[in-house]
Amino acid sequence: MKFRTCFQSILTVLIFFSLVFGGGLLFGFYKNGRDDDYSFAEYKNKDWAYLNVSIPVEQRVDDLLSRMTLQEKIGQLALVEKNSILKLSDITTYGIGGVLSGGGGKPKPNTPQAWLTMVNTFQNAARNSRLAIPLIYGVDAIHGNANVPGATIFPHNIGLGATHDADVIRCIGEITATEMAETGIYWNFSPNLDVPQDTRWGRIYETFGSDSTVVSTLGTAYLEGLQSGDSHVIGTIKHYIGTGTMGWETSSNPDFSLDQGVTVVDEATLRAIHLPPFAAAIRAGAMSVMVGHIRWNDVELVASHYWLTDVLKKELNFQGFVVSDWGGIDEISGSAYNNVVTAVNAGIDMIMLPYDYQSFIQNIQNAVISGDIKQERLDDAVRRILRAKFSAQLFDTIPSNSNDIKTLGSAEHKLVAREAVRKSLVLLQDTAHVIPLSKTTPHIVIAGSAADNIGRQSGGWTVEWQDIDGNELPGTTVLNALREAVSKETVIEYSLNGYFSNTRADIGIAVVGESPYAEGWGDNAHPSLTTEDLETIARVKSASKKLLVIIISGRPLDISSSLLSWDAVLAAWLPGTEASGITDVLFGDYPLTGTLPIAWP
Ligand code: BGC
Ligand code: BGC
Repeated sequence: MKFRTCFQSILTVLIFFSLVFGGGLLFGFYKNGRDDDYSFAEYKNKDWAYLNVSIPVEQRVDDLLSRMTLQEKIGQLALVEKNSILKLSDITTYGIGGVLSGGGGKPKPNTPQAWLTMVNTFQNAARNSRLAIPLIYGVDAIHGNANVPGATIFPHNIGLGATHDADVIRCIGEITATEMAETGIYWNFSPNLDVPQDTRWGRIYETFGSDSTVVSTLGTAYLEGLQSGDSHVIGTIKHYIGTGTMGWETSSNPDFSLDQGVTVVDEATLRAIHLPPFAAAIRAGAMSVMVGHIRWNDVELVASHYWLTDVLKKELNFQGFVVSDWGGIDEISGSAYNNVVTAVNAGIDMIMLPYDYQSFIQNIQNAVISGDIKQERLDDAVRRILRAKFSAQLFDTIPSNSNDIKTLGSAEHKLVAREAVRKSLVLLQDTAHVIPLSKTTPHIVIAGSAADNIGRQSGGWTVEWQDIDGNELPGTTVLNALREAVSKETVIEYSLNGYFSNTRADIGIAVVGESPYAEGWGDNAHPSLTTEDLETIARVKSASKKLLVIIISGRPLDISSSLLSWDAVLAAWLPGTEASGITDVLFGDYPLTGTLPIAWP
């Protein structure tokens, strides 16, 4: 069984970790002694109750909170972008609570080892503070630990939505957590629980689709996989709430049309369609919630006491911490001081600044001293952040070292990615019964902008925020998967733009689609194929007896005017690096089981 396969690989890691660290755990905390490039700060006073793993988490939190100064509490609320840290010692001095890499926020050189060293360096600075409180390092590992070259890259969520397979998705969550932990990272800004209805939005591919129930089931499965494995990674359910329902041309960002806009739906709709996935994930133990860049009823969500405190924390009984999105509180149109006061009083616990932590700290300190933010509210925010840090076992386990980079991008993990790819494929049309193809087909021509392009297969949030267009990253392209799948006798001809001379092949395959994008940069009034792609398809058609079009895209594209002239059309979404999952199905080794996660026009 597939889930068992996943479970076994996790088990190996589990056994490894318990053998290495098991003995140490009995003592409750660690000292360094294993790694040359990381010097673990020694806890200065081992009698402190919060360092004792055998005490319940709530008591550890109480104990730690009772020892903290105002300054130390305030530091916990700051989430700073890693390139904005002016000097490393600021992490120690201010007791910064969290550091993040935004999309493309990579170390130099960009290798797994360099990620680990970078994160551990920040972590070490945090542990050097008076109370040795670890920071939490966050990344968008939204389709595998895909910021890191060499990590396993899974299909984006829209493809996972098409699998409708909670087991494989749970497995992907576990593997992602394992590969994150190997690079020292324990906080993922994922899963995305948005329930979008408008395919013009540039973030459709980050979602599991347009059906609230499906999003609840699959999003929860992912979260459970991520949080419940042995890696102790914390998930973030986002973007609370109603992100994906914004009106066209309502964006507050002049470069975007829909993303970061104003939601058009009423409270009953938010509660009926958009809230249930969050409620389900909270019941399953979600430890952080990210609030979207979204405005509802003239109020920014980050400023909404109703949605953050009354609904999320009281009604849904959310015990983790609420984090604002990138520069999110700046959208409240007041002074920097007022924005901090409004957001924290509304219920934001940790603020993704991302840049200027010094003035943030000054503002919040003034607000607490003046009483604009009550001590009680500050303590509640810190308590929630510490609770999450304890639950990620950040106080108790020694961070990974280079010897722990063992399974990142392993063949076993890639097999799960390949399985997800084949389950994600949706056949949109096959009037001429093109699929399954025979492996002994004498002659195949293949062409198109996405036929031999790992970057297009992977989409945004892969090493870079927006894109890598081309074959910079390792992986199997559709062309290579095809070459590996067919018999020795089969002739395969490839031309990017479909120029084949004097040929009438048995099968023509055109692999076309969208070039990569992320967030509002992908907002598009009419998602469709480019003229260039359509011309390539026409050339492939005239060079072959039967035509199969494979669409690599982050969302449904309008192909209605061309559909009649194509024999077969397969939606492959953004499959990531394991295109052999596509040929597995094309040649009939596995059945086609994917169904649309969102309506295709
Ligand atoms: C993204 C970040 C990215 C940044 C670049 C943000 O909106 O979420 O991940 O690095 O923009 O400016
Ligand atoms: C995005 C979030 C992301 C964050 C950090 C924001 O711009 O909206 O989804 O988690 O950046 O990269």
